[in-house]
Amino acid sequence: MYLGIDLGTSGVKAMLIDADQRIVGSASGALEVSRPHPGWSEQDPADWIAATEQALDALMAAHPAALAAVRGIGLSGQMHGATLLDDGDKVLRPCILWNDTRSHREAAALDADPRFRAITGNIVFPGFTAPKLVWVKNNEPEIFAKVRRVLLPKDYLRLWLTGEHLSDMSDSAGTAWLDTGARQWSPELLAATGLEERHMPGLVEGTDAAGMLRAELAARWGLPGGVVVAGGAGDNAASACGMGTVSEGTAFVSLGTSGVLFAANGRYLPNPASAVHAFCHALPNTWHQMGVILSATDALNWHARVTGASPADLTGELGETLKPPAGVVFLPYLSGERTPHNDATMRGAFAGLGHESGRAALTQAVLEGVSFAVRDSLEALRLAGTTLSRVTAIGGGSRSRYWLRSIATALSLPVDVPADGDFGAAFGAARLGLIAATGSDPLTVCTPPRTAETIEPDTALSGAYGAAYERYRRLYPAIRDAMI
Ligand code: XUL
Repeated sequence: MYLGIDLGTSGVKAMLIDADQRIVGSASGALEVSRPHPGWSEQDPADWIAATEQALDALMAAHPAALAAVRGIGLSGQMHGATLLDDGDKVLRPCILWNDTRSHREAAALDADPRFRAITGNIVFPGFTAPKLVWVKNNEPEIFAKVRRVLLPKDYLRLWLTGEHLSDMSDSAGTAWLDTGARQWSPELLAATGLEERHMPGLVEGTDAAGMLRAELAARWGLPGGVVVAGGAGDNAASACGMGTVSEGTAFVSLGTSGVLFAANGRYLPNPASAVHAFCHALPNTWHQMGVILSATDALNWHARVTGASPADLTGELGETLKPPAGVVFLPYLSGERTPHNDATMRGAFAGLGHESGRAALTQAVLEGVSFAVRDSLEALRLAGTTLSRVTAIGGGSRSRYWLRSIATALSLPVDVPADGDFGAAFGAARLGLIAATGSDPLTVCTPPRTAETIEPDTALSGAYGAAYERYRRLYPAIRDAMI
């Protein structure tokens, strides 16, 4: 048996899988986010431990025999958070989370230093870890002076589980301190924020063993001795391990609240100019790129709120047959956009409205707008050397056949829909635990789920979609200046 623990933003999920990777059971513990000031987003690391305890207690109640047979644990977690510890490993202040934007000025200042993009391969986003430390240095100098170690959220859980200060490459790539191509800390970038390598955890690959479960905790939940804890991964890379998106040419598009186009790369392929994330993957010698769309299903949810209809009713109204774009263009930048614009202040827009534009026409434009945003990410990845021949769709939005057809046609790529199942970050983390405990080949463990259906692009509409995408592309620069 193997255990995956995913430390999310809204909860901790623990999942047990057997040696054949069948899910035996899962349980969770809830987490809250504290927002003491506008733009702030924090959690108390003690709550992560409490939520993990809650999830493990529930697993022990339901599956005691399976827990007693666990050999390996894998960790996944929300990325970028700054957990600050003193020289006795005591938490110095609440963790500043990935979606906290207080350090946007510090991020812009670091991003203006060309060494950051050159060494990390990424824009320094306000959510990343390094600018948060500069904010603490500037605003809470007494705390900064006591910082002995900076840990990412899941690595704080590891410290509790094993007593080790270690991190994996995929999560560390989101700090803005990693030399992403060389897979090592950059002393130069650390120094630029007043830190040294001794402040950081040791680095391992996500598939490596990175500590042993403490005897006291093993006894508490009835686990055996000698349980290995794997390096693990940031949540996106962990999900990719769950989805089998680990070798060159494989990719998934996730239509959740936000949207992600994730591609696995056999090489380090940065493209910060188009706001692509280029991070290490959880497997050795593997990297990945990510285009991030801030509002995916969130755009449809907004439209549903405004019209008073449910998202399912709105998409249902369109039927299943893809329609040619009708001239209404929607920019889904309801909370700004990351890829390709890196523009936090831009907002969304409808253009091309006519008397005939009813609710269904707006729904169609919303779905097309998100599809074109995914196409923008595909182009951004292509500019960085990635060629995809198909993608797998996951997330709530992938329940709409219409949307999947629209995405397939906008991307000119077949879209695979996996058979039902849970391939999320906790499952990917459990796979990493299995690999670390058994030494199995990661590529034979991280296989893709069965494809239930493939949605092909509608070639009869390729021309109309291509023309609509060009209109979509022209709209942002045309109205950007009028929006601020
Ligand atoms: C990745 C990112 C999010 C968090 C959320 O860059 O910011 O996916 O990891 O959990």
